[in-house]
Amino acid sequence: MKPYYFLCLAIFFDNSAYANNDALNIICSAKPKTCQWLQSSFVDKYNIPTNIVRMSSGEALKLIESPNNSNHKIQYDLWWGGTGDTHLKAIENGHMHQYSPKNEQLLGWSTYINDLSDNHTVGIYAGMLGIIANESLLTAQNIDLPVCWSDLGDPKYRGQIIIADPATSGTAYTFLSTIFQVYDPFQRLQVLAEIKENILKTTTSGYGGLLPVAKGEAALSVAFIHDVRPLSTNGSPLTIIIPCEGTGYEIGTASILKNAQHLEEAKQFIEYTLLAQTQNELTRYISLQMFSNVNADTSPVYKNLGDLNVINYNFRIYSNERVRTKVLSTWKNLNH
Ligand code: G6P
Repeated sequence: MKPYYFLCLAIFFDNSAYANNDALNIICSAKPKTCQWLQSSFVDKYNIPTNIVRMSSGEALKLIESPNNSNHKIQYDLWWGGTGDTHLKAIENGHMHQYSPKNEQLLGWSTYINDLSDNHTVGIYAGMLGIIANESLLTAQNIDLPVCWSDLGDPKYRGQIIIADPATSGTAYTFLSTIFQVYDPFQRLQVLAEIKENILKTTTSGYGGLLPVAKGEAALSVAFIHDVRPLSTNGSPLTIIIPCEGTGYEIGTASILKNAQHLEEAKQFIEYTLLAQTQNELTRYISLQMFSNVNADTSPVYKNLGDLNVINYNFRIYSNERVRTKVLSTWKNLNH
């Protein structure tokens, strides 16, 4: 095994001690295992030293938009994964490099987001949001499952919900903007205020909110449904609910930073993750999102896509700076 492989793994867990500006530096906003696997398989295949640091979508956005970014020890080249709305916002503010993928074997939603971003971000995966319940925990308390988003505000779920912070998590922001899109301005305030009352704990990432529910530490969370099956096969009793009002979805994207020091390597990394072979390996071992290559295997989670009640999610509007600020401040200013 190559010596820098160990260095790379070390950097993954401590993103400051091993800062290495000679390597391709990637911010990865997918789940940690996905980021780790991508790093080691890319290094194995291309022999390009690569550091990957995991950050939630909103955290990555904040870092990229921070005015002192040039003072950071690590000069990041690429932002891979996380919800596309956060990438679009960074693009809107001029932080990203223009890039169209060379791979032309991509599904329509992937090329759509590339077009929408004026060729500044590339659609890698897509996933639907859902309410995730630890059913046995609820049954033990004689409480039934929620059916709609609005049910999450029912007092019977007081102290039962873990949701991530929408300012840091793309998962939680997708939840919030879904509520904005399915309810009118008056109803949304009421629904969100009631839900906030029932929150037990807030996490930084969406996946981080799902884990305690899998372990039985809380009954309910809101997460991307492809993250549930790998946890369920480990024996945790999780139930997915697609809420009656309809659910939102993400397009997970990859974008190159404007001042990338390793431009060609960053492009190579993106192209590597667009290959059907890479996407199939992810599906087989790590991540069950829908992947963007037309020849990639269909995720078992999304085989019956037509059965999922998915809303016509508006990426253009909900990535906009003014709208994002309004959505986040609405949530923040609700009493809890
Ligand atoms: C999980 C999902 C990804 C999603 C990401 C967002 O890792 O598998 O599909 O893009 O969450 O993470 P965040 O921490 O921003 O909620």
